Amino acid sequence: MLSRRDALRAITLTSLAAVTTRWLPSSARAQTPDGSQLVPPPPTGPSVNAPFSLPPLPFAFDALEPHIDARTMEIHHDKHHAAYVNNLNKAVENHPDLARRTLQDLISNLDEIPEAIRTAIRNNGGGHFNHTLFWNSLQPQNNGQPEGDFDKAIRADLGGIKDFMNALSQAAMAAFGSGWAWLSLNADGKLIVESLPNQDSPLMHGRKPIFGIDVWEHAYYLHYQNRRADYIAAIWNIVDWPAVSLRYSDARSA
Ligand SMILES: [Fe+2]
Repeated sequence: MLSRRDALRAITLTSLAAVTTRWLPSSARAQTPDGSQLVPPPPTGPSVNAPFSLPPLPFAFDALEPHIDARTMEIHHDKHHAAYVNNLNKAVENHPDLARRTLQDLISNLDEIPEAIRTAIRNNGGGHFNHTLFWNSLQPQNNGQPEGDFDKAIRADLGGIKDFMNALSQAAMAAFGSGWAWLSLNADGKLIVESLPNQDSPLMHGRKPIFGIDVWEHAYYLHYQNRRADYIAAIWNIVDWPAVSLRYSDARSA
């Protein structure tokens, strides 16, 4: 019988042909093996003006309760994430050369984007990418801890799981206004903790995102109001460690 990790790996391998960047959310690939939500179709045919689509949540709206309430999840996914996708499609609708590129390619090479739509691509492309990764980093039940090489890297680069969790929580608390706290793989192959504003992705700064915490108020305000620290503490109960560990392995081998 296949373990969950084996199953994730098998799905990853079968979908590699369609997904060009292996550090994309592993379970996103499981949800849509053809990568359709992240890799736009050729710029011909009926979807030429809407190459990007909203991927479904990999769980029910209420699956993360009591840590994240169903109403927050519904609005976060169906309204906020959907708006990023819609606005990204609007940004590229008159740019067929951009519409044929993948999302990760677009946001990794912002300097190649025409200035008139660069901010729109940055904000909405980043928003689409970050939220897709976020949904595919969470799961309803405690399912272990960092595994394999990922566990070793956390020990070597960040002092162990406890220090890592403290550092990421502090980065999430320290983020002023709207932004994300990230665990990223830098160009030297080391794990780092950082906070980035708005919808910036580590990809925009030459790093690969491994795990992120969304600290925009839309992520928690309905249930937690101003208690961001409680929301951050709750996130640690619903991290999908096998998926995050696999994302690290993929990032190292990409
Ligand atoms: Fe968000």
